[in-house]
Amino acid sequence: MLILAFESSCDETAAAVVRDGREVLSDAILSQADMHALYGGVVPEIASRKHVEAIAALTDQALREAGVTRDDIDAVAVTYGPGLIGALLVGVSFAKSVAFAWDKPLIPVHHLRGHIAANYLAFPELEPPFLALCISGGNSMLVDVRDYTDMSIVGATRDDAAGECFDKIARVLGLPYPGGKPMEELAKGGSDTAYVLPRSKVADCDLDMSFSGLKTAVVNLVHNAEQKGEAIDRPGLAASVAAAISDELVPRTIEAARRYGHHTVAAAGGVAANSRIRGDLQRACEENGLKLYLPPLKLCGDNGAMIGSQAYYESLCQHYADMSLNAYANLEI
Ligand code: KG4
Repeated sequence: MLILAFESSCDETAAAVVRDGREVLSDAILSQADMHALYGGVVPEIASRKHVEAIAALTDQALREAGVTRDDIDAVAVTYGPGLIGALLVGVSFAKSVAFAWDKPLIPVHHLRGHIAANYLAFPELEPPFLALCISGGNSMLVDVRDYTDMSIVGATRDDAAGECFDKIARVLGLPYPGGKPMEELAKGGSDTAYVLPRSKVADCDLDMSFSGLKTAVVNLVHNAEQKGEAIDRPGLAASVAAAISDELVPRTIEAARRYGHHTVAAAGGVAANSRIRGDLQRACEENGLKLYLPPLKLCGDNGAMIGSQAYYESLCQHYADMSLNAYANLEI
């Protein structure tokens, strides 16, 4: 089954052609990050406009690079939430138009299910059940993946997402948006014990996380140092932040896997590209006898291929939509 998939939930416009949920024939992506960097974060209105400008050309590119035509496509898939509502609406409207004009079935895909499915593209042997750690710019959660389309959130951030925490701290340190990668670069050569930073404890659910206290602590630390004219050990601070974020994520991942009876862990989302988190996860999974899947960096961030992968499994369960499909800023997994 050949699926043409669209992704436009944030600041990447993407179109991809995927065969049977596992084989990527093309994966055309246009990132708007440089544009949003001018403002220090994603400007929703600009994101929507840029999606409108890019999506038709990316569709042509995806078909061309896959070496297929519209006649070869069996279904059209699209991310319908969660994300920026205006941005999502561009993809949903476009996908509906394509499905209607080409007379193809339409498959709605949850963005985070897509992130998890990135692992199916990278690892042919991977099948549910497993525990997924989804860490992106807008979400941080632990997902009990019982089957391809049967999953539930067992732990989540109560406030900021891990990526948001990296991005906001990067901004205070004068690093460009998105800040995760520049923070990782800065952390090289820094000591992760240079600064003592807070770790959270969420009273009524020990699998839930919190990143806003860490963010505020670092913002205050930087402002206080600036006011007193004191120098900051920038690499040390970046390394300490990465350690704090990893400490928030990794032990909870291991505990969730244990509690829900999983022997396999898969990471997903843009923050899963972080080398500190990858290293800590690797070590912790080894120590606890868990098999770990870490998708390659290019499949961690937003892309259309992951949507095409998940769409295949949604279609096997007859999860189709009609022309009344809407976009949702918030959407249960
Ligand atoms: O999954 P993604 O591309 O988009 C969302 O769905 O949010 O994730 C983007 C997030 C941004 O917050 C970015 O700073 C973060 O992923 N990120 C990283 C790294 N690369 C991207 N965070 C930490 N370390 C990285 N190497």
